[in-house]
Parts: sequence; structure tokens; C-alpha cells
Amino acid sequence: MFVINTIAELTKTVDKVKAQGKTVGLVPTMGALHEGHLSLIKRARKENDVVFVSIFVNPVQFNNQDDLRKYPRTLDRDVEFIGDYADYAFAPSVEEIFPVQPSEKYDFGPVEKVMEGAARPGHFNGVGIIVRRLLEWTRPDKAYFGEKDYQQIAVIRELVLQCNIQSEIVPCPIVREPNGLAMSSRNRRLTPEQFEKAANIHRILEESRKCVDVPQMKAFVEAEIAKIPEFQLDYFEIADDKTLQTVHALADADGVMGFVTVYVGEVRLIDNIRYK
Ligand code: PAF
Repeated sequence: MFVINTIAELTKTVDKVKAQGKTVGLVPTMGALHEGHLSLIKRARKENDVVFVSIFVNPVQFNNQDDLRKYPRTLDRDVEFIGDYADYAFAPSVEEIFPVQPSEKYDFGPVEKVMEGAARPGHFNGVGIIVRRLLEWTRPDKAYFGEKDYQQIAVIRELVLQCNIQSEIVPCPIVREPNGLAMSSRNRRLTPEQFEKAANIHRILEESRKCVDVPQMKAFVEAEIAKIPEFQLDYFEIADDKTLQTVHALADADGVMGFVTVYVGEVRLIDNIRYK
């Protein structure tokens, strides 16, 4: 695997690969790579001739500077971890990507106004800014994103539509730790005790399936989260899987999912579950 640090080298490499008629897969990441990322990269490997993985902690998608400062950065280990599966890792500096502060403003409509969009003002605008640039520089046939960040995928689908980007957006299932916790780079910030406790998030979501209707599911999840010391619920929403707007009954939409965000100590974790 080759490591590329500049946009000029990235676009030159993409031009060369495309001139050879090869298909390109892109897996955008912020590093601190884990088995969840590896599942995306392995899928990209199967479905494309050449695989690019971007590793960039994007400052403009953090609405909390402390979170940005504490975000794990493990580039050397990441490069080793994915070396057998990816062809190129694009690992630029912040100055390379943002020589000046970006000023683009997107409106992704209703899908960005709820949940993460409401809780983290500016977050999805920052995601849109970086993902658009990565897609335009890499011009992938397919780009792969994990469904833990389900709302992010909805926003990126809106981005590619609005910007006439031709890449196919491929959603990939959540990969879980043996204890059920959704894999996330943020899990590295948990103490071993918090890591075990955090498994309750998935357990509670799974148990909420037994509730007979949406108000009962909501009450159940909120009450169960409140019982766990060190847990603080940010939100639990039950929503249409396409519009991401709240539903009040399972019959209100063809697909219905639950979306939860919980602080475990200071670490903010998100997860989701499909009810139908
Ligand atoms: O999901 C992530 O890791 C990031 O939001 C992404 C898509 C790499 C953009 O920085």
C-alpha cells in the first residue's frame, strides 16, 4: 500500500488508474481504524480494481473542540492495519485540505435537521465539505460508509444528488464487538469498565423490540438508559428510515428505526436498530 499526502499526488494517481480503465473504490475515514472500517475496505476490495482509503480527522465537522483534540490519531498503526487490503491511503495534513477556512454552506433539507444535526450544529455541513472534496478528487465508482452513522449516509446521498456526483454510495452494516457494542474509533477512549458497560446500549435496543408500540419503546429505552450509572442519554428517536422524521406508530412508515446517542462518561456513542 502506498501512502499519499498531497491532493496533487492523489489526483495524479486517480488519473493514472482511470486511464488504465480500472474501477475505483473509496473508503473515507478519520483513522483510528478498527474491524468495522476493515469490513468496508474488504468490501471495496471485492467490488473494485483499486481501493483508496482516506485518513483525515476533519476539523470542520467537530462542533466541540475538546472532542476534536481528544479524537484518537494512530496513523502508523492504521497504515499497517489496512496495508494488505487497500492500495492507497490518502493521509493529508489539515493545511493541505484547508489552506483557507472553508466557507461552503449546504442545506441538506429535513434529513439533517434532526438527531445528530440538531445535537451537533454545523456537523453535517462539515461532513459535506470534506466528503464532497474527497469524492471529487478520487472520483470513485463506489464509496463505502458504515451504517452506525446512518444519518450521515442520508446526508451524503443528498450531497451527491445536489452536486451531481456520479459515485454510488454503498451503506455497510454495523460491525459489533463480541459484547455487542457498535465498533467506533471513540471506543478507544473508554476505560475497560466503561467498555463493558457500553454494551448495555445494544442490549437495551434489542430488548426494546419486545415493546408493543412506539411510545412504549421510547419509554423503555429512556428508563433503561437512566438506570445505568455513568450513562447520560442525549436522545432516543424512533424514525422513518428514509426521511428520518419521527414516527409515532410502527405503521407510520414502511421502514422504522431507533436511533440512540448516549454519553458514557465523557465519550459520546451512537447506535441504531431496525424495528421494521
Ligand atoms: O464517518 C466518518 O468517519 C467521517 O464523518 C467521514 C465520512 C470520514 C468524513 O470525515
